[in-house]
Amino acid sequence: MSSLALQIDAVVKRFGATTAVNNLSLDVTQGEFVSLLGPSGCGKTTTLRMIAGLERPSAGTIHIAGIDVSAMPPEARDIGMVFQSLALFPHMTVADNVAFGLRMRGRATDRLAERVREALDRVRLSGFEDRYPDTLSGGQQQRVALARAIVTSPAVLLLDEPFSALDRSLREALTLEFSGLLREIGATTVFVTHDQEEAFAMSDRVAVIEGGRLMQCDAPATVFGRPSCTRVARFVGMSNLLPVTKGTDGALRCELGPLSLVADARGVPPAVVGFRPDDIRLADPAPDSAGLQFSARISRCTFRGRQVQLELTPDLAPGHSLRMLAESGSPIPETGVVRNFLVAPERLHLMGE
Ligand SMILES: Nc1ncnc2c1ncn2[C@@H]1O[C@H](COP(=O)(O)OP(=O)(O)O)[C@@H](O)[C@H]1O
Ligand SMILES: [Mg+2]
Repeated sequence: MSSLALQIDAVVKRFGATTAVNNLSLDVTQGEFVSLLGPSGCGKTTTLRMIAGLERPSAGTIHIAGIDVSAMPPEARDIGMVFQSLALFPHMTVADNVAFGLRMRGRATDRLAERVREALDRVRLSGFEDRYPDTLSGGQQQRVALARAIVTSPAVLLLDEPFSALDRSLREALTLEFSGLLREIGATTVFVTHDQEEAFAMSDRVAVIEGGRLMQCDAPATVFGRPSCTRVARFVGMSNLLPVTKGTDGALRCELGPLSLVADARGVPPAVVGFRPDDIRLADPAPDSAGLQFSARISRCTFRGRQVQLELTPDLAPGHSLRMLAESGSPIPETGVVRNFLVAPERLHLMGE
């Protein structure tokens, strides 16, 4: 048996003239937690609905636990779902809501009560069997929806922004709670969110989607620290991006000056160098150290609480405005002055367009 719980191969979904999902391929191994991360409208829900069988791909195939499910109806697929709107039945008890997860799939109902109890125990809701949804808190209702989705022990669990209707503090608590619970039961999970922090906190891998295309799929720290292209870089806050050229001697430079990098750049085609706003340091007097040094005018200074945001206009590239974040306790030069700045070599990251 394949250790791949889910294989998405070159899947396309068109709605009339709109291509919602464009040639997306993704493999998820058993027990893995993968997030689909991207801005609203990028095709996350459509991808999840195709895995669930609620939408039919225009092209491509989907395998769940090694079985081609591309032509199967939702109830024949070995999946569990929690969607944005919970759709708990208000007139049913907690136990009946969870049992519905089994009945819907036509599963044997002999051990029904026992399985419902197990599922409620897993989401820490033992003793809530006879309650009605409207007597539960928002977080407890989310856990009932999760119990209903895991009661069949599905091969793949699909979660579509399950916390988006909740307030910030409850969301953060549930994020940790759900990822803990799902790891405990070894569920293979595909989790949709537009919230980076949520995706980073919960996932083994994060699949960044933009315009229906998969841009990068890697461990959270890799997506954050080493984005593969400028679109992912912007999305994770690496907002200073400059084109790079390679001299005949192999040396790299950008418009601000020569670049010295930690990583060996010989194999890398010249493309773009990126660095974060909080990776720029004031460097007066100019040090001998490597990295990227430049002189720039401070064109704007905005107080943001713990940090001060500066806009820098480099002398050598006045068309590029760079963004810098400094601790608000540190001495900040006045707007209008020209200073030297430094980005340390380990903070410079090369990527494709
Ligand atoms: N049933 C539909 N009919 C027409 N267009 C749709 C339909 N569902 C989604 N779309 C379009 O497909 C794109 C992706 O939508 P969706 O998958 O819901 O994005 P996300 O979940 O990332 O916000 C959007 O442009 C959306 O308007
Ligand atoms: Mg969506």
